[in-house]
Amino acid sequence: MGAREEDREKAAAADAAAGLVDDGMLVALGSGSTVALVAAALGARGSRARFAAASPATATAATTAGLSLVDAASTGRYDLALDGADQVAADGWAIKGGGGAHTRERILIAAADRFVCVVGSSKLVDRLSWPVPLELQPFALAATLERLPRATLRDAPPTADGGVLADLDADLTDPGALAARLDATPGVIDHGLFAPDVVRELLVAHGDEVELLAR
Ligand code: 5RP
Repeated sequence: MGAREEDREKAAAADAAAGLVDDGMLVALGSGSTVALVAAALGARGSRARFAAASPATATAATTAGLSLVDAASTGRYDLALDGADQVAADGWAIKGGGGAHTRERILIAAADRFVCVVGSSKLVDRLSWPVPLELQPFALAATLERLPRATLRDAPPTADGGVLADLDADLTDPGALAARLDATPGVIDHGLFAPDVVRELLVAHGDEVELLAR
């Protein structure tokens, strides 16, 4: 699929996602180009909902679109979380964190009554194959990397919370086992593997058609 078609699908899915937001809702927005399109679509609809942003880039997209932001530090629950993904596999596992905001995204998604993952069809895969994004503690980074010999530091600035981004070249035949291992690895703040019980609703664009898949 060409970049133009991918962008068209992202925009179609983003517009459908904006349609899920009612005025009066508290909505968590993730990060990435799809979420920026969601923010723009919400702005175009004149949304009067209130939003938390997972990244400075999303905060900028939201304010540019005229949306009203809340402080995530003092907001406990959200009605809805909207976010993209890098890959979503047929078994429901997803990889996020291409944009390096997966730690904050997971926190916001966990605080939402409903999470809808918004993607174009190019993100759907039979099996996960991306490297797994990691956010690592800068403290004792060398020791953490010893435990993760197949991790490569990303050429990227620190995250908004001071974390170090890396990508793990991992065997993805058992994402659940890998996620558990990474969860238990000292120095790993978070990884980009999101389980099927989290990614329960998918808004997928195929061309101009958008379908909501629920599992
Ligand atoms: C950022 C993410 C994004 O949702 C993911 O990288 C997809 O990005 P895009 O919408 O630009 O394709 O997880 O941490």
